[in-house]
Amino acid sequence: MKTVLITGLSREMGLGTALAKRYLEDGFKVFGSCRDIKQEHIAALSRDHAGNFFPVPLDLTDLNSIKKAAEIISEHGKLDVLINNATATNGDGNKPLDEGLDTENMLNAYDVNAVGFIRLAQIFLPHFSEGAVLAAITSEQGSMGKCWRDSGIDYGMAKAALNYACVVLQRRLAPKFGLRVLAIHPGWVQTRPAPPKADLSPEESAAFIAKTVANPPPYEAEGNKGVFVWYDGRHFEF
Ligand SMILES: NC(=O)c1ccc[n+]([C@@H]2O[C@H](COP(=O)([O-])OP(=O)(O)OC[C@H]3O[C@@H](n4cnc5c(N)ncnc54)[C@H](OP(=O)(O)O)[C@@H]3O)[C@@H](O)[C@H]2O)c1
Repeated sequence: MKTVLITGLSREMGLGTALAKRYLEDGFKVFGSCRDIKQEHIAALSRDHAGNFFPVPLDLTDLNSIKKAAEIISEHGKLDVLINNATATNGDGNKPLDEGLDTENMLNAYDVNAVGFIRLAQIFLPHFSEGAVLAAITSEQGSMGKCWRDSGIDYGMAKAALNYACVVLQRRLAPKFGLRVLAIHPGWVQTRPAPPKADLSPEESAAFIAKTVANPPPYEAEGNKGVFVWYDGRHFEF
């Protein structure tokens, strides 16, 4: 039975929960992490998928919490897929520079999104199976080449840093450990009640992402093509 760890399942209509359901349908053993696992939709997943779904407490900013999660998960064997879906941002850190941008609380987004993924990769390194895929859920907002915004620095900067981390990890972990690293933009996904006009439902995005993780696009060292990709595996410009 293949195994996957997905972070950030705290919201029932979030992408993390949709990914967990997708992988359960695909026959995986799923470890779903939240900072607080005592939530009704998490209890429901454990009940409905007893023996296949395991809630794991995990805070991406806390190394000890990641180490404890790795201990719990490694008792079940090696990990085939890691999907780092959790994210954080601070609304005032996303305001325009001249309209109250709060620079004091910007580090949390960077800590959770970018450093959090590196912490996970490092702590779980001995626990990945041969050919395992490490996927970070990033955002088009982390692209510099395609940037059209004049605000949103907090979140965008964190995702740009995450994209860079993915390139470096792919270049290191693929040749040395046989792993594959992806930074996946999930599309504009309806993970909040409003606005309702997003292109994809969480379930649709999750289905695309699971397919891309199962069949990653070829990696080209020249230009690092195949690392930063759309949910359906198309190349995204850094
Ligand atoms: N929705 C879209 O259109 C869209 C577009 C582009 C990219 N994305 C990306 O897609 C992913 C999923 O989006 P979403 O809207 O479903 O995410 P979300 O629910 O806003 O975030 C996922 C979870 O991250 C958790 N989190 C925050 N700080 C954490 C920490 N220190 N340690 C561990 N977990 C932490 C939060 O749970 P708690 O705070 O309860 O712990 C939250 O439920 C994110 O990476 C997002 O950036 C989404």
